[in-house]
Formats: sequence, structure tokens, C-alpha cells
Amino acid sequence: MTPSGAPSGRLAIFPGSFDPLTNGHVDIILRSAHLFERITVAVLVNAEKQALFTADERVAIIREVFKEYPNVGVESFDGLLVEYARQRRASAIVRGLRAVSDFEYEFQMALMNRRLSSAIETVFMMPAEQYTYISSRLIKEVFSLGGRVSGLVPDIVEARLRDKHKVAIGR
Ligand code: PNS
Repeated sequence: MTPSGAPSGRLAIFPGSFDPLTNGHVDIILRSAHLFERITVAVLVNAEKQALFTADERVAIIREVFKEYPNVGVESFDGLLVEYARQRRASAIVRGLRAVSDFEYEFQMALMNRRLSSAIETVFMMPAEQYTYISSRLIKEVFSLGGRVSGLVPDIVEARLRDKHKVAIGR
């Protein structure tokens, strides 16, 4: 703890929808956990976007995957990301960059976030090459059409996708 009572050590926030968590996300979280003293995976509660998993389900899945990593926390948030980061006294926002196609959107968000709060820096990290084509959207599409997603998502995500599918088809 610092004299002000704030937890010591640099905290980074890794925000996203995580619907669902992929091995690309896991790769970025592990890299961040090496770089920062603490990392909080912040799951966006997005009422507008039709999500497959509820925010609580997404938080529970990510907590299970990182239960052995004491410096990885998981929370949900809503509202402005920079406001959430300020409340948590985070120093950085981590985002993954898979390909050039991610760049434009990420560049816009990073600069808007900097305009909203110059105290917080966005840090981009690249996942291992084998994860550069994975996205949550593709995982959901491939799985719902009967394709294999093992090796692309943690085992628990695959199991939860199966559970959702069983509910959807009434079994
Ligand atoms: O995984 P995603 O869906 O690409 O993550 C997008 C996310 C959650 C980082 C972004 O939508 C976000 O920060 N939302 C919170 C609202 C906000 O601050 N919007 C302004 C961003 S410049």
C-alpha cells in the first residue's frame, strides 16, 4: 500500500467484450501479467450489443481460467472506460493488435481515450502468430455451425459453448 492507502504497483486494465474469451485474449493477458504488477480484465456490460454470454458468465469464465494467477483480476464495467480506469487508479489500458485491420479502430479509440484522460496510456500488444486470426465473433459462428474450436479457446469456454448450444436446441 502507498501512504495514501492506494494499492502499490502498476495496474493495467485489459478491457473488452470477451464474448467469449479466446486463446488470443489469454495470450495477451499472460503477456500483460508479466509486464505489469497487476492486470484487471474488465468485461464490458453492453446492453446494446446482443451477447451470447451474460457479463456475469463472462466474468466467471475468465476468473476460472486465471484462478492461479494472483496478479490477474476480473471485473465487469459499464460507462466510459477512462472513467473506470481512473476510479481503479490504473496507469495503462492494454489492447491486443492482431493485424493491420485492427489498427484504425484501435488508433481512434486510443486517441479518444487520451483526449478524455491524458493520465492513462494505451499499450498495444501482439498475440502469438497462431492466434492472429481468432476473434470471438468467428468462434461463435464456427461453433454454432458445428465446427471445431478446440485449441482456439480455453477448455472451459468450449464446455460453456456446448452448454449454451444444448439449451438453444432444448436438450
Ligand atoms: O473487445 P471489444 O468489444 O473490441 O472492446 C471494446 C471496448 C470495451 C474496449 C470499448 O467498446 C470501450 O471501451 N467501451 C466502453 C465505453 C467507452 O469508453 N467508449 C469510448 C471509447 S473511445
